[in-house]
Amino acid sequence: MLQRSAHESPASSIRIIEVGPRDGLQNEPNLVPTEAKVSFVNALSRTGVTEIEAGSFVSPQAIPQLADSDEVFRRINRRPGVTYSALVPNERGLERARASAVHKIALFTAASETFNRQNVRATIRESIDRFTPVVSGAKRDGMVVRAYISTVTHCPFEGPVPPSRVVDVLRRLLDLGVDEISLGDTVGKAAPPDVCRLLDEVRHHIDRTILSLHVHDTYGMAVANVLIAWMEYGIEAFDTSAGGLGGCPYAPGASGNVATEDVVYALKASGASVGVDEQLVVAAARQIGAALSRPLASRLSRIPQSQAAHERVT
Ligand code: COA
Ligand code: ZN
Repeated sequence: MLQRSAHESPASSIRIIEVGPRDGLQNEPNLVPTEAKVSFVNALSRTGVTEIEAGSFVSPQAIPQLADSDEVFRRINRRPGVTYSALVPNERGLERARASAVHKIALFTAASETFNRQNVRATIRESIDRFTPVVSGAKRDGMVVRAYISTVTHCPFEGPVPPSRVVDVLRRLLDLGVDEISLGDTVGKAAPPDVCRLLDEVRHHIDRTILSLHVHDTYGMAVANVLIAWMEYGIEAFDTSAGGLGGCPYAPGASGNVATEDVVYALKASGASVGVDEQLVVAAARQIGAALSRPLASRLSRIPQSQAAHERVT
């Protein structure tokens, strides 16, 4: 099972997929001005992250907070070397992505039927069928396609989810031709043994280089989950959210995504090579925190700036 010891510094870099502007903001009840979203994405672009999920082309009735994603994409400064992706539920979403010159889209389904029905009003099978023309259309246009599988260990309605259900969905998505898969603990309830049980199964069906882990921090296990996935299974891509913003409107009680700055700190401190400046992430998070008028959940953002300057890891 063990692929890497904590002392070994890998040559390849960790890939951070910053999902704050999408997963982070979608659960915020007060509408954030478009300008604040644009500034947030621009600030994140300067942190060293190579991928930012900057918006969502879903139904505006379903997620009113992100109804202005088209405008956000129009106004951001796209930094060379950074991929700006968007969540897409259907062909209509793909059209909007195309019109916004988005080069990478993220589809989403779940390993739990009840959650999927609440989220996209479709069975898992129906949602994957709906992706068929979206994937072929995206590929025709040279877009990269990622797919999220939500509720990979726990469902807020059905309880624990067996890894075999995740494998089943994952295989169907790979058959469809998606380029990468992100496994989401949407509820934030997984502990390291749950992650191990899941990855022990999943690793036989997908190359780890096209697999990301997407964890939420409801039970305070998220950084531990990231570390075990990296150390024991060689996973190098993690979806994180600046400031620990986030939560899914269809997962009652779920808290934010694991904070980008906390993951960057933990991985660097464990010997990983990560090209992201965690203090610049904190600065970006503070900026959106001010727009939301509420304190941030991340650990690093609570450390006074003068102290953080002395304690920066490299
Ligand atoms: N962009 C903009 N509007 C869209 C859209 C898109 N991609 N897809 C659907 N719509 C609109 C339709 O035009 C329709 O509007 P109307 O009522 O004014 O005619 C309405 O949304 C419903 O469309 P329909 O095709 O019947 O879809 P649905 O009601 O079965 O909803 C989804 C399915 C997937 C489109 C919707 O549930 C959704 O967007 N969910 C998003 C969930 C989400 O983002 N969750 C968090 C991320 S994990
Ligand atoms: Zn999430």
